[in-house]
Amino acid sequence: MTEKSRLTSNVLRFTIPMLDLVNQYNQIKPEIDSAIAEVLASGEYILGSKVQEFEQNIAEFLGAKYAIGVASGSDALLLSLHALGIGKGDEVIVPTFTFFATAGAVSRLGAIPVFVDIDPITYNMDLNQVEEILKKDNHIKAVIPVHLFGLPIDMNRLMKLTEEYNLYVVEDACQAINADIYLNNTSNVSHFTFKSNLNNTSHVSRLTSNVQKAGTIGHTGCFSFFPSKNLGCYGDGGMVVTNDDGIAEKIRVLRVHGSKPKYHHSVVGYNSRLDSIQAAILNVKLKYLNKWTQKRWQVASIYNKEFEKLGLDEILQCPEVTEGHVFHQYVIQVDRRDELATYLKGRGIATAVYYPLPLHLQECFRNLGYQEGDLPVAEKTCKKVLALPIDPELTEEEIRYVVKSINEFINK
Ligand SMILES: Cc1ncc(COP(=O)(O)O)c(C=O)c1O
Repeated sequence: MTEKSRLTSNVLRFTIPMLDLVNQYNQIKPEIDSAIAEVLASGEYILGSKVQEFEQNIAEFLGAKYAIGVASGSDALLLSLHALGIGKGDEVIVPTFTFFATAGAVSRLGAIPVFVDIDPITYNMDLNQVEEILKKDNHIKAVIPVHLFGLPIDMNRLMKLTEEYNLYVVEDACQAINADIYLNNTSNVSHFTFKSNLNNTSHVSRLTSNVQKAGTIGHTGCFSFFPSKNLGCYGDGGMVVTNDDGIAEKIRVLRVHGSKPKYHHSVVGYNSRLDSIQAAILNVKLKYLNKWTQKRWQVASIYNKEFEKLGLDEILQCPEVTEGHVFHQYVIQVDRRDELATYLKGRGIATAVYYPLPLHLQECFRNLGYQEGDLPVAEKTCKKVLALPIDPELTEEEIRYVVKSINEFINK
């Protein structure tokens, strides 16, 4: 929705959504429509040349050797873990404060999620706690770092730790496409050299510069193209990226029921293919990703500036606008969170809660024996977080209106 359409006569009638995907579509409609029409006329609807083209584009954009299109971000995680040989009884470290799919993929393979609390400032997994677990538990096979809300976790430290314990790393970059990770020059390059059990070779991640894209440092990186993601399609879609020949090949086979050659199945795989229409849409949208990322960053900067002016930035724990962050979400914390959400709704402002309940307290994981109080930072955070509208096209006036409304609520 454009600023203009939010005006009725001379009255400002705000309805500020979290994201306005229809407005985004309208801005690039001719390109999208012709990309879809081309696929419809081609008769090639699943995988095929459009998917291959998109895989090449993404690999190049991210600086990874391989990109393999799959049906969703959830499947990207599932197929990654499967390809790495994670299975029954294996333990996998995951943050408790993330979207369900991060841990769901572990459980679906019969493996056990080991939940870790978060850093209260970055919301990412607490690496001190990861280190403590690794010292005590020798059943851990892999770690899934999540770059939550678009802010990369400290991969320098994580890779050093996981190499020490010889673990697999599956990056959940579903919320962090295009996020930059600054590699520590002083760290030993071998931190990023992995031995692959699959083909007895080792690979070195692209280290031509000391900045790499989120998702290209672990053994695999997983991406989601769910419509509301920073790069979203018009349905479900996902991608696994890897620099490892053996892992790439396994995932290519797993996504087509484990079949290679066709109708010959060496393993039981999945039906997890990316549609040609979604790939064609994503090929168009990828060209705009840098621009949209920059705009999200600007929206976050304006929020911070406006909250600072009112002396609210610390009270609301505004996120730091750091380089590399892609602001999939702009999240604040507030004590009377649900009341504020209702107040803002009354003023035409949408908000969302990511996430209301940490994963270690979800009913489906009750059998793992976690209790309330076990991971207190995440538990407390779940009660206070509120995501504000982050549409890249938000105007300064709209952002100021959101901030002003929050200020009014706080001083009410
Ligand atoms: C952190 C995280 N992991 C995994 C997923 C799963 O992606 P999808 O919805 O494409 O299956 C999502 C997206 O919703 C996510 O935000």
